[in-house]
Amino acid sequence: MADLIAFDAKTQVFHLHNQQISYIFAIEDGGVLGHLYFGQAVAGYHGERRYPRKDRGFAGNLPVAEPERGFSLDTLPQEISSRGEADFRIPAFVIRQADGAQASRFVYASHRIVPGKPKLPGLPAAYVESPDEAATLIVTVVDQPSRLQADLYYTIYRDRAVIARSVCFRNPADQPAVTLEQAASVQLDFPAGDYRVLSLPGAHANERHLQKEVVGYGIKQFASTRGTTSHQMNNFIALTAPDADEFHGDVYGIDLVYSGNHALTVEKDQIDQVRVVAGINPAGFTWELAGGAEFQTPEALLVYSHQGLNAMSQTYHRLIRERVVRGRYRDQERPILVNNWEATYFDFNEAKLRPIVDAAKKLGIEMFVLDDGWFGHRDDDTTSLGDWVVDSHKFPLGLKHFADYVHNQGLKFGLWVEPEMISKDSDLYRTHPDYLLAVPGRAPSPSRFQYVLDLSREDVRANIAGQLSDLLDQGYIDYIKWDMNRHLSDIYSHALPAARQGEVLHRYTLGLYALLEELTTKYPDVLWEGCSGGGGRIDTGFAYYMPQSWTSDNTDAISRLGIQYGTSLVYPPNTFTAHVSVSPNEQTGRSTSLTTRGNVAMSAVFGYELDLTKLTKTEQKQVAAQVAAYKQIRSLIQFGHFLRLESGNDYAWMFVSADQNEALLFTFHLLNNGQPAFHIVKMAGLDPAKQYEDTATHTVYGGDELMHMGLYQPLQRQDFTTHQYHFKAIN
Ligand code: DGJ
Repeated sequence: MADLIAFDAKTQVFHLHNQQISYIFAIEDGGVLGHLYFGQAVAGYHGERRYPRKDRGFAGNLPVAEPERGFSLDTLPQEISSRGEADFRIPAFVIRQADGAQASRFVYASHRIVPGKPKLPGLPAAYVESPDEAATLIVTVVDQPSRLQADLYYTIYRDRAVIARSVCFRNPADQPAVTLEQAASVQLDFPAGDYRVLSLPGAHANERHLQKEVVGYGIKQFASTRGTTSHQMNNFIALTAPDADEFHGDVYGIDLVYSGNHALTVEKDQIDQVRVVAGINPAGFTWELAGGAEFQTPEALLVYSHQGLNAMSQTYHRLIRERVVRGRYRDQERPILVNNWEATYFDFNEAKLRPIVDAAKKLGIEMFVLDDGWFGHRDDDTTSLGDWVVDSHKFPLGLKHFADYVHNQGLKFGLWVEPEMISKDSDLYRTHPDYLLAVPGRAPSPSRFQYVLDLSREDVRANIAGQLSDLLDQGYIDYIKWDMNRHLSDIYSHALPAARQGEVLHRYTLGLYALLEELTTKYPDVLWEGCSGGGGRIDTGFAYYMPQSWTSDNTDAISRLGIQYGTSLVYPPNTFTAHVSVSPNEQTGRSTSLTTRGNVAMSAVFGYELDLTKLTKTEQKQVAAQVAAYKQIRSLIQFGHFLRLESGNDYAWMFVSADQNEALLFTFHLLNNGQPAFHIVKMAGLDPAKQYEDTATHTVYGGDELMHMGLYQPLQRQDFTTHQYHFKAIN
C-alpha cells in the first residue's frame, strides 16, 4: 500500500500516487488540511510547494493565541471547508450546530490506510475485485467544540488515473443533534490560473450537449433540483486548461456517483484560485444527525488527464465498465433488441405484436421488448401506473403466453415498467392515496398525468418490490426497462416529522437504491436497462444497478450524434442504447437513410424501434445485413476503446480493440454545400507500426498513415451521409 499512499510524518504530507497521477495534501497550521496538488504523477514530493503565506487585507486568521496574519482560511487551498469561520468562499459543508450557529472548522485528528476500497453503505460506488487493486486513505477530522467528526475517504487505484472521494460524518453518541445543511462529496481547490469548465446541459429529447465556458470571477453552478439526475444538467463537469482539446491538455473530471439532486459549483476567487465543490444539492436539503448517527455522502470520481478529453473519457469508460457496472451482463455482449414503443405506442395487443416478433426473428434480432401499455387498462398515459398486472384485453391468454411465443421464436423477452410512479386512476392509489409525494393541504402537481411514489418509505418500496417480484418470479422475463417519466415536486413524506422534511429527496434516492439493490440481487439473470424519458437518469450511480440505459427519447440519427457525443464524455458506449427508428423521424421530422440511422445506432448498444412488418423488401435485406454486421463488431464496440475524433458539421468517432489489431471508424457528414472542402479524417489510437487492411476494399494502410495522413472522405451529394470503415491488422 505504501507504493500507493505515503504519509511523511516530518512534513505532515499525504501523497497518493500511481504511475499516472499524484494527489497531495498536508496538515497545516492548527491541523487544517491544505490541498497541494492533483495532476500528473510526481515520483517524490520534496515539500517545496506549500502554502505561500501573505498578509492580505480583510483576511481572517486562525483564532489562536498568536494569530499569524499570513495564514488565512480564505486563501488557503483546502481539502474540506465549511461555513462560519473566515473562509468566505463556497463551503463543502454547512452545519447547524445544536445552539443554532452555522459554524464549524474541521481539523486533523488521525488517519489510517486500508487496502482496497470500503463499500459505501446504501450507496453505489466504484469497487475493487481484489484489495490489491487500490488503497484507501481515511483521514478523520474533527470540529473540536462540537466533537463532530468526519472521515474523508480517498481511494487511489493502482492502474487508473482516478481518485474516489467521499465523506462520512459521525456525531458522538453523547452529543446533541446537529443539522447538516450541506454535505458535499468533494471539494477540489485549484491553483490560480485560467480555466475552462465543461458541462453537459440538455433537455428532454436533447440531452448532454457539451458546453465549454471560461471560469470567470464569481460562482457558477451546474445543478439539478428535479429530484433526479435530469436531462437538463448532468452531474459531471471538467475543468480544463484553456487550450485543452480531445487529445491535448490538462483535464480534471469530476463525476458524482449519484442519481438525486446534485450541485457542482465552481468559484474563482479574488486571487484567481478556483474551488470546485460537488455533491448533493444543498437547495432543499437538511439532514438531522442525532448523537450516535452517521451520514455518508455519495462518492465523487476525480479523473486527471494530461492528454485531453479522450484520455479522461477512456479512464471513466474503463472504470465504469469494469468497476461500477455489476452483474452477469457486465462482461457480456448485450442482445440486439426491437422495442415496440415507436412502432405501436399504446395501440397493440398480442395479435398485433406477433408479426413484429416474427419479422424480428427473420432479421436476426435477439430480443423483443414490450414497452409501455401492457398493464392495467393503459391505452394512453393517463392511467394505471402502480398496477403491475397484465391488461387482459390486450393479452387475453396472459403475458406468459405471449412471452412463450417470443421465446419459441428464439428471442429473449423484455418488459417495460415505471415502478416509481402512480396514476390517480389505479388500484394502488385507490388503496393507498397517501403513497405519493404530496404536501398536506396542497394538491400535488401532475406531470404526464402521473405522480411520484414516496420511495423514502419502506412500506411503499415493499409494495412495489412485491408486485415486481410477482412478475419476475414467473421466470419468463429476460430484461427489464426501468422507466421514470417525470421529475419530483411537492416534496413531503408522511413518514417524517416536520423538522426532517429536508431529508425527503435524499431518502428517496436511498430508497430507490435499496429497491434496485434488492431486485437486481434477487434476479441476477435479468438484463436491467435504465430510462427516464430517454436519458434523464444517465449517471454513474445508476450504472451500478443498470448495465445500460436508454440514451434519449430523440431517435433522430442526426440529433443523436450530438447527444451520443456528449454522453460518451463520461459513459462507455456499452452503457447507453441506441435504436434505428422510422424515417422521417417521429421527433424531428427529419429524413435520413437506413445506413445513417444504422451507423449512429451501431455506435452504442444496438436495437430497432419501428414497425418491422412495414419494411420494404430492400429495407429488410439492409436491416438483416446491419444486424449481422453488428454481431461481428459488437464486442469491439461494447468492449473496445472509444475515441472521439471530430464534431460539428462532420462527426467522426472510432473504436479500437485493446490489442490494437482491429478498429472501426464511423464518419458522418451533416449539411452538404455546393463547393465542399476536401475533408480528411485522421484516426487515433492505432499501432503506428502495424499494417491495417480495410475489410471492405482490401486496401492496406500503415497505422501511422491512418493516424498522421488520414483518409479523404468521399465527396457528398446529399445531406446526412455516413461511412463505416473496418480495419484489421495483418501483421
Ligand atoms: C419514455 C421512454 O423513454 C420511451 O422509450 C418509452 O418507454 C416511453 N417512456 C413509454 O411511456
